Amino acid sequence: MTRTLHSYDATIAGEIFSAAEIAAAIERLASEIARDCRRRPLTLVGVLKGALYVAADLSRAISRLPDGPSEIGVDYICVSSYGNAARSSGEVRLLKDLSDPVGGRHVVIVEDIIDNGLTLEYLRALLGERNPASLRACVLFDKPYHRLVEVPVEYVGLVAPDEFVVGYGLDYQELFRNLPYLAQLRPEAFTNG
Ligand code: PRP
Repeated sequence: MTRTLHSYDATIAGEIFSAAEIAAAIERLASEIARDCRRRPLTLVGVLKGALYVAADLSRAISRLPDGPSEIGVDYICVSSYGNAARSSGEVRLLKDLSDPVGGRHVVIVEDIIDNGLTLEYLRALLGERNPASLRACVLFDKPYHRLVEVPVEYVGLVAPDEFVVGYGLDYQELFRNLPYLAQLRPEAFTNG
């Protein structure tokens, strides 16, 4: 199988999930969300910046399915917990709120990854106060190894290894988000960056 080469391919140690595996996971997540939100108004809340790609692809996958939500809204919220470090500081900051109210709507928070769980816990509390008809969470990549809090995730895509991963929205120092696959970096990438 061939794939597009990138100028920084030399720093990529290996592919963890291919673009095709990610696409298949998104199709499955879309089916589950569409089934649970049939004929009801859905708002997908993508969590920037990482969930830019998964929210875009998931929203279009849901809209291709017959007998799904009555309407699909897509909104974005921006939080940060990692800064530029490889490990979470544990602090969640709201950088940009939603554009529209979510009262009365069926809301699914869409995340690229869950690690310690603090970001999702923060978002569930924040949006839960806004009287949505329902509130669920969808996470493309689950890293279940270092949870600091137990937070419900109704829709899980793929379980990622206990490694620092990049691609499909995930960055290292704001690079690599655009990779269409999930990858591991070579150790040199962290020291030369
Ligand atoms: C990442 C990711 C999640 C969060 C998950 O965001 O997109 O929002 O970390 O980590 P947690 O479960 O340990 O809280 P990050 O803060 O790196 O910002 P980004 O999406 O802008 O890269």
